[in-house]
Amino acid sequence: MNHIKVLIIGSGIAALQLAKSLGRHIDVTIVTKSDFYDGNSCLAQGGVAAALSADDHPSKHYHDTMVAGRKVNNKKAVEFVTKEAPQLIEDLVRAGCEFDKDQAGSLELGLEGAHSEKRIVHSGGDETGKRIVHFIAKQLHDNVKIKEKMFAYELILTKQKDTCIGVKVKLANGKIQSLFADYIVIASGGSGQIYSRTSNAATATGDGLALAYIAGAELADLEFVQFHPTLLYTNGKAHGLISEAVRGEGATLITKSGYPIMQNVHPLKDLAPRHVVSQTIHEYIQKGEQVFLDIRNIKNFSLRFPTVYTLCQKAGVNISHGKIPVAPGCHFFMGGIKTDLYCRTNINRLFAVGEVACTGLHGSNRLASNSLLEGLAFGERLAKWLCKYGTSNKELNDAKNCSTINHAVLQKHVNINELKTRMMEMTGIVRKKHQLIEQKEWLESFGIEQLLDVNFDLLSVEETTSIFMLVNAWLVTTSALYRTETRGSHYRLDCPHENNEVWLNRQIVRQKKEIVKKGENNEFIEATVVT
Ligand code: SIN
Repeated sequence: MNHIKVLIIGSGIAALQLAKSLGRHIDVTIVTKSDFYDGNSCLAQGGVAAALSADDHPSKHYHDTMVAGRKVNNKKAVEFVTKEAPQLIEDLVRAGCEFDKDQAGSLELGLEGAHSEKRIVHSGGDETGKRIVHFIAKQLHDNVKIKEKMFAYELILTKQKDTCIGVKVKLANGKIQSLFADYIVIASGGSGQIYSRTSNAATATGDGLALAYIAGAELADLEFVQFHPTLLYTNGKAHGLISEAVRGEGATLITKSGYPIMQNVHPLKDLAPRHVVSQTIHEYIQKGEQVFLDIRNIKNFSLRFPTVYTLCQKAGVNISHGKIPVAPGCHFFMGGIKTDLYCRTNINRLFAVGEVACTGLHGSNRLASNSLLEGLAFGERLAKWLCKYGTSNKELNDAKNCSTINHAVLQKHVNINELKTRMMEMTGIVRKKHQLIEQKEWLESFGIEQLLDVNFDLLSVEETTSIFMLVNAWLVTTSALYRTETRGSHYRLDCPHENNEVWLNRQIVRQKKEIVKKGENNEFIEATVVT
């Protein structure tokens, strides 16, 4: 029998849901650059949003998702995911995945920012991501091979460069392998590590986005970077996420003297949309004030939030006083590799799923607890597509069909800590045109064009990762510069309002020259950016 072979880059919730849903009869290989459980999915605390209560309905979840995304969401993606959510939870429950229950034995539903109903299903208090990922991993069959510490650094394309047939990987001992497959799926997560303050895992260095861009895939919406309001913050350093569910359970944001900072800012106060809360905290910190989460109202804090409790203990923060010092930090990329609703990119046989992909589900700002949901929904959808339409690629999967390799050598190294600090300041929570221009020029001084043509075979994993982070930073900054309005997570001090006309499908694709289409009022519509 001629099995199709699926190669998945990344091992988070979207990757595992895909692998599991492909069933027993398709050969699947998962390559992950670190250890299997090292990514962002296992760090996700809040939960999974699903309209499950008697008062709720997927149409309300749809509405909240669109409002958070400031209406530039892809309506079809939102409709699909919000409709699918209750069934996905039911399937997990039926398969034996345990979620927290109330005293009556029903699923306990939490509240998070910008949700009009309690609809956050959680597990182990704030261990939701970890528990679901471990549960799905246990369901994988022998047809799924897992290769840890394998760093995917280049997509292998056909000579015509229109079809992906494999990926080059580097092993821990520095050896290089070319892995060929019928379908290649990028599920490598986000790029939070390009910012100095982030909730993201150390592995979130934007590898998948860079791989895809270098190969000529279309990317979209990269200016929309979500900053989570509450990272644990001491001595000028972020230590990890303090879930929004903590505010959902009644915590409030206060200054050192006890002033409730969200009081007069938004009708939803501490549960206002994330960008509103992040921008407010940012303003206070800029003025030299410290901001705290006042958790005195929350009973049994360590039981409801064991992850947050341990995080505080590790960072030496004594929560018995009822105050946790916080600051906003990079949390999620709404944009990514542009895909349709079957996770297909513009390159044949190359797919993207999860945070690295951009279906348009999140618009310009993701609604809380829609990210694990996205991984579950689109992981399963892609599996269904592959099971139905997948065919073997035998005639293509051959080194003879590959496009030629690059030969440029690395000229200049980037200091990654400097890059992260600069991204936080210049392409961060509040953006200004002149700072974005300065940042873009600084990033381009490393010679982006030459870097993309480097022979990655000759570089170490660290050197390649630095280039990938630089490319991510440049893509985000370039996209942020083009968006001359404030929308969702994207705040421009020099253009503080939303444009009346909704812009859709902002795309970046690697080409030979720059084409920027402008609208009547000279606003940016679409760009094909060069390197
Ligand atoms: C959180 O627990 O606050 C994060 C959940 C999310 O980002 O959806």
